[in-house]
Amino acid sequence: MRTITIQQPRKVIIGAGCLSQLCDDYLQQGLKRLFILTAPPIRPLIAEAVRTLESKGVAVEIYDNIRQEPTVSDFYAVLGIAQEFGADGIAGIGGGSVMDTAKLIAAFADGKQRVEDCFGTGFVKGRSLWLGCMPTTAGTGSEVSPNAILLDEADKLKKGIVSPYLMADAAYLDAALTVTVPAKVTAETGMDALTHCIEAYTNKFAHPVIDLYAREGIRLISHHLLQAVKDGTDMEAREALLRGSYYGGICLGPVNTAAVHALSYPLGGEFHISHGLANAILLPSVMVFNKDSNPQKFAEIARLCEAGDTAEDSIRYVSRLSKACGIPTRLSDIGIPQSAVPHLAEAAMEVTRLLNNNPRPVTLADATHIYESLF
Ligand SMILES: [Fe+2]
Repeated sequence: MRTITIQQPRKVIIGAGCLSQLCDDYLQQGLKRLFILTAPPIRPLIAEAVRTLESKGVAVEIYDNIRQEPTVSDFYAVLGIAQEFGADGIAGIGGGSVMDTAKLIAAFADGKQRVEDCFGTGFVKGRSLWLGCMPTTAGTGSEVSPNAILLDEADKLKKGIVSPYLMADAAYLDAALTVTVPAKVTAETGMDALTHCIEAYTNKFAHPVIDLYAREGIRLISHHLLQAVKDGTDMEAREALLRGSYYGGICLGPVNTAAVHALSYPLGGEFHISHGLANAILLPSVMVFNKDSNPQKFAEIARLCEAGDTAEDSIRYVSRLSKACGIPTRLSDIGIPQSAVPHLAEAAMEVTRLLNNNPRPVTLADATHIYESLF
């Protein structure tokens, strides 16, 4: 069996009301200046916790203006605010963009390194600030992954920073914080989480221990995503999705994603297509490309989704689910010109960190063909 390392936050709290645990954990550190990154719809949900912290002598600064798919300069703007505030702890309470930025601020607040020097795996040398992550989408799984993604404007490409120092001290999962997520974002982020599980399960470096999480993530998300899209207040569906997203996040550290994510990054980088949407559109075509590399596992995906028992069934199911959730199926549907394909394919080939994980080697011609099949 291949040796893998599974890194997790020192603690993961799962359940209703666990935001109060985040506050207790922060207070227990004896810290006094908490910088919270979040999003406007979440502010009312954390107001009471903030009041509690303030009543105990903690200065809290809240920043809620992080763009979707943040750039390197967006990151530096928020880092500057956190440094000026003199933060001694960071809480990321939001979706992937919020949590990724929080993770990077906690690691780079001491000013010893520049984020541009740390793209790739293993370049971050440490983290000086306490870090708590709480997802409000289901989702990126960033709360339990060592990864953070920024858009490098210079290259128009989304790039990953992967380091054990980006692993939160603690993660807090409360599905109640995900109910304000609109149907469209629920659909896109849910398809992202499903993609994490499918890409880990069918990965060239798949591992039986991680397969356990990937399989359960596939089962949970496939059974509950459409219901959460239709009725955002369905707590059973919300809880199942948050759990599925958490399992997908566990897959990211030791195994990670593959060609779907590699091909989706240029769509985010050049056309600012949201991460989940880009993945959802690419997923069926990449599955078609990959299925013969491991037909048994692709057939097992169909069984986990209760959608048949062949590799083709799993692909048909994923397409159907995405469509039923209101997600477009073609790149032309989201305004991508076909003339962009050669450049998109070239940019995707640079994401070797993930392409190397794909169960079937991807050439420039293959990447071109996959994009072309989506017009
Ligand atoms: Fe993702």
